[in-house]
Amino acid sequence: MIVQRLREIQNRFGLLPDKELRKLAREIGVPLHRIEEVSSFFPAFRLERTDPPEIEVRICRDMTCHLRGAAELLDTKTGLPVLAQELTEQTGQRVCVEGVSCLGRCDRPVSVWAERRPMPEGVHAWVYNGRDRQTLEQIIRALAEGRDPPRPDTDADYTPHTNTNRPYALPPAQLGADHPTLSAAGWSLDIYGRQKWPRDYRAAKRFVDFKSSMSRPLMPPPREVTGKDLDNYVQRYHPMLWELKQASLLGMGGAGAPAYQKWLDVWRELDTEKYIVCNGDESEPGTFKDRELLLRMPHLVVEGVILAGLMTGASAGYIFIRHEYHEQIHAVREEIMRAEHLGACGEDVFGTGRSFPVEVFESPGGYICGEQSALLEAMEDRRGQPRNRPPELNTNGLRDRPTVVNNVETLAWAPAIMLSGGSAYAAGGWRVKEDPKLGFGGRRLFSISGDVKFPGVYEVPVGLSFRELIEGSKYCRGLSKTGLKAVATSGPSGGLLPAKIPVDPKFDEKKRADAVAKIRERSPSDAEFVEWFFRTKMPVGSSSLNILDLPLDLNFFRHLNSALRLPAEAMLGAAIVVYAGGTDVLDQAVNLTEFYRNESCGKCVPCRIGSQKLVQIGTDLLARRNAGTPPTGKEAEGLKGDIKEITRTLQLTSICGLGYVAPLPLASVLAYFLADVERLELTPAITPPKKKE
Ligand code: SF4
Ligand code: FES
Repeated sequence: MIVQRLREIQNRFGLLPDKELRKLAREIGVPLHRIEEVSSFFPAFRLERTDPPEIEVRICRDMTCHLRGAAELLDTKTGLPVLAQELTEQTGQRVCVEGVSCLGRCDRPVSVWAERRPMPEGVHAWVYNGRDRQTLEQIIRALAEGRDPPRPDTDADYTPHTNTNRPYALPPAQLGADHPTLSAAGWSLDIYGRQKWPRDYRAAKRFVDFKSSMSRPLMPPPREVTGKDLDNYVQRYHPMLWELKQASLLGMGGAGAPAYQKWLDVWRELDTEKYIVCNGDESEPGTFKDRELLLRMPHLVVEGVILAGLMTGASAGYIFIRHEYHEQIHAVREEIMRAEHLGACGEDVFGTGRSFPVEVFESPGGYICGEQSALLEAMEDRRGQPRNRPPELNTNGLRDRPTVVNNVETLAWAPAIMLSGGSAYAAGGWRVKEDPKLGFGGRRLFSISGDVKFPGVYEVPVGLSFRELIEGSKYCRGLSKTGLKAVATSGPSGGLLPAKIPVDPKFDEKKRADAVAKIRERSPSDAEFVEWFFRTKMPVGSSSLNILDLPLDLNFFRHLNSALRLPAEAMLGAAIVVYAGGTDVLDQAVNLTEFYRNESCGKCVPCRIGSQKLVQIGTDLLARRNAGTPPTGKEAEGLKGDIKEITRTLQLTSICGLGYVAPLPLASVLAYFLADVERLELTPAITPPKKKE
């Protein structure tokens, strides 16, 4: 209630006037300090007493925007802040240009967000993507002089690059007749589009019909039913939930927890209040797939929430969306109204008398709200800081009740799985041509940006190789510059992997067999694939592994870490950022470290202090290298040791994943790109082969 009311006030006034805060406290009957606790925490809230400027221009300073020159635009001596100062003096209007964390438009860097108080009725903000400096200057001038700024770049007007049949932003003539988007193949996820069905919530209806046809009420099994008996019970009495198990759908938000387990756990809780929360707080730099789903396929997300709600016996559903996605918030709200009109949610679901309301919760801002327990804290009108766990969310989630928190994409897959079957989803994975029993299950979306020809959102078979995604004609169609230098395989979280990952040549037959045996204990089918992979892509004696050979599979990355004991943990997330030859990877790593420092919620001291210490180390390294006096020998070793120690401390003491991953960007650069730390290496990483004499 507090967070949403503050958001409404801020949307109305462009800031939070003191008078309105007092009025709100009186109206909802809470002490003013409760309002202050929340309003002072979230970066998106502007308190009147902090005297915010009339014109605010926020430039994304993260990953791909940094790669495309955001730092130059934000330079206080030569960049746009200088213009802001001039305009402030000339016009008497306070103009401010500042950096901000990722705005979710990483496929069109640099992304810029502008506001002029008071904003015109019905305008949330002006967003500009991929504009050059001259145009940005014109925009800022127009805002300062009270003129209408140029037409903003809306998400609805932009058609992202993707492997579907939706037209590209570029005219087909420029793309060539064989361009994949001109084919008739759509995403498997978009079951309604693919089947040309009306978007009538038939998956939810199917479950309701099934339930009404049952001769006894659908009850979860007693606690003591486990293992095979539990499987049999679900298969027999809750067959649609069983489809989720057959699909082996993993959470698409990063951690990869099985969706079936989350739904099952909450179904088994006998509570009168249970909740479904869709996490649409997509704020990790490089990630923008949910932006597209929420805007273009909101019916799949809303139906996913409804399915989760009906199938687990939950009492309400919430779709938590980052506030910078204002078009998406609007699209989802409209879709919820449409679903209510069709009877799919609301007070009386499909005439059964069962109530399942769904509503949008607009995020108060901050990357940390993407952490599922911090998100729930924000929804409960507290500071968005992660909870200590246990207790887990399946028993003590929102309002201390059993709660399923799923990512947007995870829920968007649910209608297709319920209508086509879990096995059909699982069969969509990538398989080894010569031996189809080796491979992966399922499909998923990736956001890919950076130095590729066609950055965009692609649905791929799980296990497809990085080579196919980056170079394939259905996907990014190659690099936009020469040579591959590094890939961030999980936004900023997994650091930077080099084009050639060094491997110990002494990783011999015996060591391989031991590593595969260990994997087999956890997952026999994964072990078979890893064995094949080692044999074909990394023969005994290899000193490196080509990153392009790696399959896009979360578990494979986990196995790789344990088998090869990589010096910096490799991760796979939904955001892939590609860096071509000539990229200053140390500079990029410092930028990624700054992101974590900026977004640390400050709850754990080691994360709050450690992330700042890491930024200091990185900035110092960068300055010394640029001055031609990089640390070498013992000093360099000492620094590596410091980073190792900070990494260990953070990983042992942090409450949430942010503290765990914050050291990885610097650690990965020190592990894989020492030459760049010692000197500025701006030549392509892979040099073209020499011509024959
Ligand atoms: S690890 Fe960092 S971001 Fe996470 S709870 Fe602790 S201080 Fe906050
Ligand atoms: S919008 Fe700049 S990195 Fe995402």
